[in-house]
Amino acid sequence: MRTRLAWVWMASSLVLANAAFAEEPARQKLPRVKILATGGTIAGTGASTTQTVGYTAAVLPVDRLLAGVPEMKKVASVGGEQIAQVASENMTHAVWLKLAKRVNQVLATDEVDGIVITHGTDTMEETAYFLNLVVKSDKPVVLVGAMRPATAMSADGPLNIYNAVVVAASSEARGKGVLVTLNDTINGARDVTKTNTSAVDTFRSPDLGFLGYVQDGRAVFYKQSTRLHTTRSVFDVSKLDALPRVEILYGYANNSRVMLDAAVAAGAKGVVHAGVGNGSLFDEVKQGLCEAQKKGVAIVRSSRVGSGIVARNGEANDDELHFVVSDTLNPQKARVLLALALTRTSDPDEIQKLFYQY
Ligand code: SIN
Repeated sequence: MRTRLAWVWMASSLVLANAAFAEEPARQKLPRVKILATGGTIAGTGASTTQTVGYTAAVLPVDRLLAGVPEMKKVASVGGEQIAQVASENMTHAVWLKLAKRVNQVLATDEVDGIVITHGTDTMEETAYFLNLVVKSDKPVVLVGAMRPATAMSADGPLNIYNAVVVAASSEARGKGVLVTLNDTINGARDVTKTNTSAVDTFRSPDLGFLGYVQDGRAVFYKQSTRLHTTRSVFDVSKLDALPRVEILYGYANNSRVMLDAAVAAGAKGVVHAGVGNGSLFDEVKQGLCEAQKKGVAIVRSSRVGSGIVARNGEANDDELHFVVSDTLNPQKARVLLALALTRTSDPDEIQKLFYQY
């Protein structure tokens, strides 16, 4: 009887040892994903499970985000690093430059296959587009956030971060530019925008649609952007420690040039005008923009509408006035591209070419 029990014990130990051994190579083969944390609601906490506004963003450190979703270890070998701890309304060019340089440094090694960046949702689209233009790697870079703090009932952060790791670990995400993943959808950095102040499906790509879904631990792509990005982009931040000042002005009825004149007096090198309709300009503002352009300020006509092409030589004679049009970029994305364009050229024709390429 004792012999039989010993055999059963030995046999079951062997089975367990074999299972562990069989698991080992699989674990070794897991893609390696690094999470770079910057703050936001995904790292936010509230006073109760029902608090979904007025909570404190950017509280939990990256280790707590990782520990909260142990499931991600099944899809990737994951490590974390804190880059910043801010609510994204306080995002700055300084953090963008630090983040971009770190992303490029990490992805240049053989030790990381993809990056997830946790970020507040408010300015996520700007950071994503900036990185789309300056990251020098084909490896996946995925931004993720949450609309509800980590302490809330039905918090969306855990599944969002798990899905972001799935996308960053996926070979299909390579070469598609910087991506934004929330609420089970994958969006391209150029086209995505926040569309709702509080809903969990706030991220949309209004004109051109999202690129794919994440479902049950699998990233599925249906299309990709035709615009230049990452390894095919000319923009290089390796030697930059600041970006040119670019301001956004808003179009509305009974407008005036007061804000424009203040921006120019403050030293703006570029102005993006979020015009009404197809980038139309109030007469007094148009006059001010012409004067600013003659002083060397780059002028981009964009639109406050939220989708559609701003047509060149449509609502203003851009050729004659040396204005640039934003194509389908919304004003906040046009600001990002203009700031980077101004690191290379101040020629409006050259800037226009960049707006049609990126
Ligand atoms: C933020 O952008 O940091 C706050 C809001 C959010 O993350 O949803």
